[in-house]
Amino acid sequence: MGWIVTTLKWLVQIVAGLVGLTLLTNCTMLGLNYASLEVDNKPDARPEIAATTLAEWDAGRDALIETFEEVVYGPWPEGQAVELVSRKLVDAELVGGRGTLEELIVRVGSGEGARSFHVALALPDAAQPVPLIISQTFSSNCGAFPGAPLTAPDGSDCADYEGIPGFVETIFGEFIALVPIDQYFDRGYGYATWQAGEFIPDRQGEAQAIMNAMAGEGVTAPTGALSGWGYGFSAVIDAIETDEAINRDQIAVMGHSRHAKSAMVAAIYDRRIAAVVSHQSGFGGAASSRSDTGETVERMIEGVRPFGVLDMEGYPHWFAPAFSDYAERTEDLPVDQHQFIALVAPTPMLLGNGRRDVWSDPNSTYRMAEAADRVYELYGTDGLDQAGMQDFNPAASLSYFLRPGGHSITQRDVDAFLAFLDAAMLQGNDVPGG
Ligand code: GCU
Repeated sequence: MGWIVTTLKWLVQIVAGLVGLTLLTNCTMLGLNYASLEVDNKPDARPEIAATTLAEWDAGRDALIETFEEVVYGPWPEGQAVELVSRKLVDAELVGGRGTLEELIVRVGSGEGARSFHVALALPDAAQPVPLIISQTFSSNCGAFPGAPLTAPDGSDCADYEGIPGFVETIFGEFIALVPIDQYFDRGYGYATWQAGEFIPDRQGEAQAIMNAMAGEGVTAPTGALSGWGYGFSAVIDAIETDEAINRDQIAVMGHSRHAKSAMVAAIYDRRIAAVVSHQSGFGGAASSRSDTGETVERMIEGVRPFGVLDMEGYPHWFAPAFSDYAERTEDLPVDQHQFIALVAPTPMLLGNGRRDVWSDPNSTYRMAEAADRVYELYGTDGLDQAGMQDFNPAASLSYFLRPGGHSITQRDVDAFLAFLDAAMLQGNDVPGG
């Protein structure tokens, strides 16, 4: 009798475990499920991009940006003062003496609402100006360059930094915090990185108050953190643009996940940006807002509570307040993300995806890219030039990359980023230091 009860208990636990796993899989980014290679089962790209000439597209571009500002991202900050407050050398012998590491403090705005953040800037020694990747991350600069005498976002010394927990790297990849600077130097790139949350904190109430305080006479403040963080990329460009060691025509922006979304916003407004690496941008990025696979807009805004236990807050503060009104009725949105991708055109852009990152919806991302392709072509570029989700063409101006694995930054991603960046920024140029 006892063994029957024990077996039944085991069975109940196994079934509960399986149900739990399925629920978690569907509403978290743990990467336990697997994207199909189907595209046509995703929502249509609506409204269709109707422009048939570049002039037509150009004529409607500003109005389209305005609609995105109204219903999705809020305004792009205008009139904000940007100042390079300080710049100091922290390591003259980076990567075994192949370059330098500096720490910059960049300030945006003035008066009480001004915000400052630390940027770590690594430049390879080179005889000519180098191309630069500007990346925005979750991790502090301490995690990007472990062991370097940099400053943590709270102003403390990176010497006190204890590293990220091992499981974070296991889930999110070996380069989720760490910058493979040797690999970037090998290909001649400089690399600047900063933690977005130091500029505008990634917390609901706090973010709104800080953005509101950035407003002033003749100065537009962001109402959504993605536009604010996007503006941060521009501020970094302002701060380093006159540096003769950097090739100002070869500045790329790079971001993962929420920072892939903000990198896209930046590229729409700041046309100095020569290339975009938008890795696993998902909802509010390159995925269709109308898709019901993975995170969905509703979960992104309202959060999720698997089992009513794990309380994962939403991110309404990333967007204009109006976007929250659409969370449960995305069918009514007047725009979708194919138009958002198209607004980046003709700037070359890589859309990175993971097959187990269903959370970010690789399928609708491909569908959106297909629909945006028309605008890249109107500009006379090749646009999305691949036969399907797995046919990666790093040299295309709109390049879609799908690898196995989940929501992470891995060596395969870094290889893809570099292949794309080389093609987008260096083709025809001598690779400095190469
Ligand atoms: C959350 C969020 C996503 C976002 C991701 C990230 O999962 O809901 O939209 O892309 O975090 O930034 O890693």
